[in-house]
Order: sequence, then structure tokens, then C-alpha cells
Amino acid sequence: MNKFVTLAAAMLTAVAAVAQVPVYMDETRPIDERVEDALSRMTTAEKAGLLHAQSKFSSRGVQRLGIPELWCTDGPHGIRPEVLWDEWDQAGWTNDSCVAFPALAALAASWNPEMSALYGKSIGEEARYREKDVLLGPGVNIYRTPLNGRNFEYMGEDPYLASRMVVPYIKGVQDNGVAACVKHYALNNQELNRHTTNVIVDDRTLYEIYLPAFKAAVQDGGAWSIMGAYNLYEDRHLCHNTRLLKDILKGEWGFDGAVISDWGGVHDTSEAAEGGMDLEYGSWTNGLSSGASNAYDNYYLADPYLALLESGKASEDELNDKARRVLRLIFRTAMRRDKPFGALCSEDHYAAARRIGDESIVLLRNEGSLLPIDPAKSPNILVVGENAVKMMTVGGGSSSLKVQREISPLDGIRAMAGDPSKVKYARGYVGDVTGEYNGVVTGQDLKDDRTPAQLIAEAVDMARDADYVIFVGGLNKSAHQDCEDSDRAGLELPYGQDDVIRALAAANKNLIVVNVSGNAVAMPWAKDVPAIMQAWFLGSEAGNSIADVIYGRVNPSGKLPFTFPVKLGDVAAHNFGEKAYPGIKRADSPILDESYDEGVLVGYRWHDTRKVKPLFAFGHGLSYTTFDYGKITADRKHMAAGDSITFTVPVTNTGKVAGAETVQLYISDSKASVLRPAKELKGFAKVWLEPGETRDVTFTIGKDALSYFDADRHEWVAEPGEFKAHAAASAADVRSTVAFHLD
Ligand code: GLC
Repeated sequence: MNKFVTLAAAMLTAVAAVAQVPVYMDETRPIDERVEDALSRMTTAEKAGLLHAQSKFSSRGVQRLGIPELWCTDGPHGIRPEVLWDEWDQAGWTNDSCVAFPALAALAASWNPEMSALYGKSIGEEARYREKDVLLGPGVNIYRTPLNGRNFEYMGEDPYLASRMVVPYIKGVQDNGVAACVKHYALNNQELNRHTTNVIVDDRTLYEIYLPAFKAAVQDGGAWSIMGAYNLYEDRHLCHNTRLLKDILKGEWGFDGAVISDWGGVHDTSEAAEGGMDLEYGSWTNGLSSGASNAYDNYYLADPYLALLESGKASEDELNDKARRVLRLIFRTAMRRDKPFGALCSEDHYAAARRIGDESIVLLRNEGSLLPIDPAKSPNILVVGENAVKMMTVGGGSSSLKVQREISPLDGIRAMAGDPSKVKYARGYVGDVTGEYNGVVTGQDLKDDRTPAQLIAEAVDMARDADYVIFVGGLNKSAHQDCEDSDRAGLELPYGQDDVIRALAAANKNLIVVNVSGNAVAMPWAKDVPAIMQAWFLGSEAGNSIADVIYGRVNPSGKLPFTFPVKLGDVAAHNFGEKAYPGIKRADSPILDESYDEGVLVGYRWHDTRKVKPLFAFGHGLSYTTFDYGKITADRKHMAAGDSITFTVPVTNTGKVAGAETVQLYISDSKASVLRPAKELKGFAKVWLEPGETRDVTFTIGKDALSYFDADRHEWVAEPGEFKAHAAASAADVRSTVAFHLD
């Protein structure tokens, strides 16, 4: 009997103890109840303590209440190696090598939201395993100029494509209990003078071009955090820009997460207090020289903010709103018990990286069906170029990684060749022989003292004996290439690559050029090169994906997420003088004013409307098979404003091998009261077809797909009248058109 009583008493005590769990810790309660309960227990100093970093990549919780710290990590393509508490340099851990996934421009080039979901899941698992709460990515700044050093981190020139491709990535990451932190909000479309450029852009362009991907990230992706950009808009730094952060992001879009500053993006306590900034990272305030003790207490939202609050010069309501948002972020991530455990460097992650890479490679040209190469014939192959061997996962700025492995293009091509000994290599040119970023080193010794003439002579000599020559060049991750904090000086390939390509084209007609870059480059030799492939920065599995396509193990299905212009002057942003790029410096201040004078005519919108023929169009990408489009039809001739309309276009694989085609739907407004682009992407679908197979591809759109943003009325407007729907294989390859009428 006694035992029973004792047991019962113990159980009652346990139940009572459970009942005593404070509301903020009780995960069965709604998150906002938990937030309010936590808030009610916190002092003003504890609330302010939530709002700024305590180290390079972490911010405080509330130790006294057992509310955990928040740990952030770069980047959009893989999980950054651990750094020291308050340094960019490596912590020297040996358990933090990761898988490098393809850069996001490559993901966008897959035009496949399923790849985006696979990407988010995989990178989210790596972040979870490394016990990180916030992943500082993805980036969705629109590709306005091909000189922007960070376009490789973003999703191209079209807001609809970027909007569709960013959402599954966010969901995949956040399913792991890791917050996505979508960046860099907003108008951070170049790296040159990124801290001091004040962007001037009209509202219509802002809402039609530069905001949609962020809006989709918030409203469709449910992003738990957003990163404020470095630059200025309307003379206010984006990290405390009331209009963008409070009126639009938190007001119009209903964002309930936290705004995290870019590292050092906060510049003023009062502006940050009132301007919508919630969590300050990386600031170098006047009181914060490197190594200063308690440096983080000098942050703008640290002691200086506390002083304003205590003197009644900053509102408690603002403080509580910030603290609520950071607490919500913590409760969604660090303080969630039911999180999965993630995985690091798993074979699934390598398979995901390779599959995304396979689907992202864009076959730009393939005259005479030179590609694919049949490995069974064991041809003599000469591979030329520094990018065939150079590691690309180190460098490029904050997205730089320490990988467990990286398969180079040369390794991949050799591994899949019939007889690897028949795959030879010549350097061709010398580019960037360094290989280090913040203490992560490639270990490669790329030094080569030969002259360009000697290097070309060697490559040409070897090319003469080869059945195929594969030139692997392009850009790299060093400054003024595809790299953070600098832009390129021009569109041309660096390091004299054009000369090498021309010499090779003269020496061997079976020349294939593989361009490894995150940006468009000039290709003056394009007509002389039968096969050209855009291969991106594909990460750990780069060489395998490139070989997959070269040998036809995979039929390429990528399409360009941005236009390849013939020359820089063909690009919209470079048609309005220095004030449109890179901006004009003010006389008495470090600020440069840059006006986006091209307005909504960005990318193919410019090329179509101004009839500037591109080298390769937005949405362009060939296959090893061919596709025929039947006539596009609409389910109605007239649509009322509240209706939707469905288009159907039959697509047939008319070739001999299975393949995927991304059918694009563009909409034109035949007669508008304002200037509108000739056509705009409003739908796409990637379909896999067996040889001879036909599939009906359908698109259903509503009035919003017909609308432009009327800045005066501050609303989206679709003007009644005739519209046209185009089924296209690229912006320059419309296969079929149907007119319809909005009543
Ligand atoms: C960098 C980048 C940002 C990155 C952050 C932390 O300056 O702009 O994308 O996440 O700082 O490294």
C-alpha cells in the first residue's frame, strides 16, 4: 500500500512540476502567448540585450530565463566554417567541412522549383547539424548589371523567376528549424560602393522589379528573418529605412519575423531605434575598434540605445516590438525541441548538389551536335584552362566555404572518360593563383611563370592531336571577378582568355567552351566555337555535373536566368551615364547617388522593348533533343477582372533522346496608358518528355499577371483591353501567341 501511495505522490509532484513550466517554455502554447509571457518577465536591459550581436555570428538570449542564444551562419551555398569569437579568421575546427551546393544563379537556371526545395532541405540539414539557427541566405537581389560581383549569389534578372525559385528553398531550410534570412533587402544590385550608394528609383520600378522576390519570400515562403542591405534608399540606410522596413515589409506585407542587419549595416542609434531594425550584427561603431573589451556593448542598439530608452528618448513600444520579433525568431529555432537533427556531408547532399548542378547547366550553342561526346569511343580529349583545375568553393566573400571535397572539371571529365589516359591538360592561361579566404586555403599551387604566348603555343600544339578540345574558363572568386565587395570593370573575359579561345578554334574545329561564372561575359568568338556551355559555380560536385552533360549522361535542361548581352553598352543600366552606374559622388560627402533611369526595362525587358539583340536571351537553353510547340490556346476570349484564364500549349519531344523543356509564358499588354515592357514572364513549367511524347502544358493566370503598379494610386492596375499570351522557349524564341481581352 505504502509503495502505491509513494508512487502516486511522486506522480502528483511530477505533474505539478510540469504544470509549473512557464508559458514561454511551453511549446504546446501559441508562440505569441509565449512571446508575451517572456517579454513580461524581462527587464528593459534584457530586452535591449536581445537586439545586438555578442560575437561575430551570435546574439544573446536571456541567460536568467533560459532563453537560448541565436547562432547565425553564412551562406547561401553551404555552411561557413567556424570563425573565432570576434574575428573573421578561422577557429581551426576540424569538424566543420561542408558540402558546397551550386551557387544560386545556377539554381535559378534550373527553372525547377523542385530543385529549390531539394536545395533548401539539404542545406537546411547541414545548418541544423552544425547547430545553427539562422542561415544567412538566400539572396534575391535582381541582376541589373553584369558587373555586380555578387550576381552568382542571386536568382537572375526577372522578379517572377526569382519569386518562384526562392520560396521552396526557404521552406526547405525552415523545415529544419533553421531560419532563412533573405538578403539583401533591398536595392543592393552592385558591390561597388555598396556602403555608400544611395539608390534613386521610382516607385513603380521598385514594386514591379526590386521588391517582388522579397515579398514572395515573406508572404509565400514565410521567411523568419530578412537581412537589411548596406546601401541607402531615399537617403536612409536600408538597415534603418523606415519606408522599406516598417511601411512596406512589416506594414504592407505583414512580416512577423526579425530584420537582421548586414554586418556593419547599422550607422545610427536613433534611426535604428525607430527605423525598423531588430537585430544588429557586425557593427564597427566608434567605440568598437577591433579587440575592444565589451565591444558589443558599444553597438548602436546596445548601451547607446539603452541610454536613449532610460532617458525616455526612445519608445518602449518600439523596444517591445523589436524584442517580440527576436523572441519569435528564437522560439522558432533555437528554443524548439522538436527540431530534426540534420546531416552533414551525407551522400544524399552530394547527390543533391550534383542533381541541381546537372539541371542548371545551360547549353548555349551546339552546332552540328558536337556534344555530347561518346565516352565509349575513348576519344583523345584536350582540356584547357585554369578553371578546369581551380577550386571555386574558396573565395567570393562571405559565401566562401571549407569543403570536404570539390570535384574539378578536369577530374570529372577524366573520371567519366572511356580511357582517362587519353584526357590531356594544358593550362592555356594563368589567372588568379591565390587560393585563400579568411584563412581557408585551397592548398593548390597554381603558380606558372610561362608567358601567355608560351601557354597558348603549348595548348595549340596539343590541340592539333586531339579529337575534342574542351576549354574551361570564365571568371573566378577573386576581387573584381565574381566576388563580394567589388564589381568587374568590364564584360570581357579576364586573363587574355579570348586569345586562347581564338587560337584553339583555329587549331581544332571540335572546340567546346565551358564558361564557369556567375555573370554574363562577352563572347566575341561565339560564332567560331561550335559548342558553348554555361556551367556556373557548381560547388562540390562541379566536375561530375559538367562531365554528366559533356558525355550525355544527363541531357542539359538549364535556361539562362539573365540575358547575355553582346557588349556592356547593350545593358539598360549602362545606357544612362555614370548617374545610372556606378553613381555620382556628392561633393561634400562619401555618398554616391545612383538613379535607376532604365526604370522597369531591366534585362530582357530592355532588349525586347528597345530591340537590342542579345548574344543569348533570357530563358535560352538548348537540349540534346528538340521540342516542338503546338498552338497556344486560351479557355476564353474574354476574361472579367475577377476571372482567371487558362492557356494550353502542347509540347512534343521531336528528337531521339528524353529531355526536359521549360516552357515559358510571357504576357504583353497590347495597348497601355503607360510604357510597359514588350512582354513579361508570368509563368513557366519544366516538363520531361520521352522521344515522341507530347504533353499539354497549362498556365492559369489572374488579373495580377496583367497588372502594372500605378505609383500614384499605390496599387496594381490591369487596364481593360487586348492582351497577348506567348508560349516561348526563351525571351527571344516565341513559338506561339494567342490574344485575349480583359473586360
Ligand atoms: C557580409 C555580407 C552578408 C553576410 C554577412 C556576414 O558583409 O554582405 O551577405 O551574410 O556580411 O558574413
